[in-house]
Amino acid sequence: MDQSILVLGREKNICLAELESLYKNLASVYNQELIEINLSASKINLLNLGGSIKLAQVMQKIKIKNLNQETEITNYLQTIIEKHLNQSPKNKVNLGLSFYGFKFSLKKVKKIQFEVKKHLKNLNYSVRFVPNENLSLSSAQVYHNRLTINHNLEIIIGLHETSREIILAQTTQIQDFNSYTNRDRNRPKRDSRVGMLPPKLAQIIINLATFSSTTDQNSSLTILDPFCGTGVLLQEALIMKYKVLGSDIAQKMIDYTSINLDWIVDQEKLDKANYKLFLADATTFQWSVKFNFVASETYLGLAFTNHVQLKVFESNMQTCNLIIKKFLNNLYNQIDQSTGICLAVPFWTYNNKNYHLDIIDHLSSIGYNLVKFSLVNGRLVYQRPNQFVGRELLVLKKVNKKDNYESR
Ligand SMILES: C[S@@+](CC[C@H](N)C(=O)[O-])C[C@H]1O[C@@H](n2cnc3c(N)ncnc32)[C@H](O)[C@@H]1O
Repeated sequence: MDQSILVLGREKNICLAELESLYKNLASVYNQELIEINLSASKINLLNLGGSIKLAQVMQKIKIKNLNQETEITNYLQTIIEKHLNQSPKNKVNLGLSFYGFKFSLKKVKKIQFEVKKHLKNLNYSVRFVPNENLSLSSAQVYHNRLTINHNLEIIIGLHETSREIILAQTTQIQDFNSYTNRDRNRPKRDSRVGMLPPKLAQIIINLATFSSTTDQNSSLTILDPFCGTGVLLQEALIMKYKVLGSDIAQKMIDYTSINLDWIVDQEKLDKANYKLFLADATTFQWSVKFNFVASETYLGLAFTNHVQLKVFESNMQTCNLIIKKFLNNLYNQIDQSTGICLAVPFWTYNNKNYHLDIIDHLSSIGYNLVKFSLVNGRLVYQRPNQFVGRELLVLKKVNKKDNYESR
């Protein structure tokens, strides 16, 4: 079957938008945790998808009669695992089962594993099931038990959202969490005051900015990050083989980015000629080099907590709003309607209420449309639990300007 399944990460909306941006109508929702893509898993590179944690090749789709009876699922699993083991030497094999969309108890999972193991033992196969702590195995469990290599196997069992269909798929790739940690923690220069953009989120921003791209020859395309800070987004874009331009208003940030990009160029054996940096105020600068996309985490405001006074909070929010508005005005005459744009802008949870930038309601007045994703319901937000400042992703397209929006 030329179909694959992706398991979504924590922030479902931005993960869905990323997949729709890349795979358009080849992507559809299977259930709240799984997305089906009408492409073979071999055509998908999970390492460039910040929002998905597992990739699996679809093996079979089945209509189930009784969802509460595990015997039917057990039988299908026995057959599919037996077929898999027939093609492998009779060594001990590690098996894993991950259920998505089910309301099973762990007891039921153990029972299924017990029955499958018994059946396989009668056929002289020696298998070990990775014990489930939850209905699905974590990427770390899949990795440590080597379930995507040799003759080991993780089967994803997904229940369709509205029908009694079940999908069985073999995991072929999991997110490379060791590499993400290395890219995040081991960069030579970090600065907690400008925030720590996780590399995964940087990948999502890049994939959303490039949604209109018609080529997969990334090396012919250039991405601009006009608020580059310590350069996480530029680092990720270089790894994805784009050419990059970065600018920042602070010399210290340009110095940090330069050191960090030299480090990643060296680590990943990339071409140093593929990046250029400028010391520049994004609200006034004219970038002299041509670029195809703008992908950036903008200024997120002062770092303080939920306990700040309302007046200080409001003034900080207005400053962010003004800088981003001025930047978009400045950008307007330097791009055309094909320039893809994705900005991570701040939003705040203050006294249990969410505050979003005022400019978001006035984008058409300054010449931009907010791109909507049909798989997504609601805003594209990323916020860790109890975090005061979250990020909201705005995917924008240049359009003709409407009436004037007075600055606030
Ligand atoms: C939230 S940080 C971006 C962090 C970045 N994503 C990283 O990987 O470190 C925002 C950056 O915007 C810069 N900045 C603030 N106002 C600016 C302006 N008007 N023009 C350009 N850069 C600006 C700050 O110096 C800061 O480095």
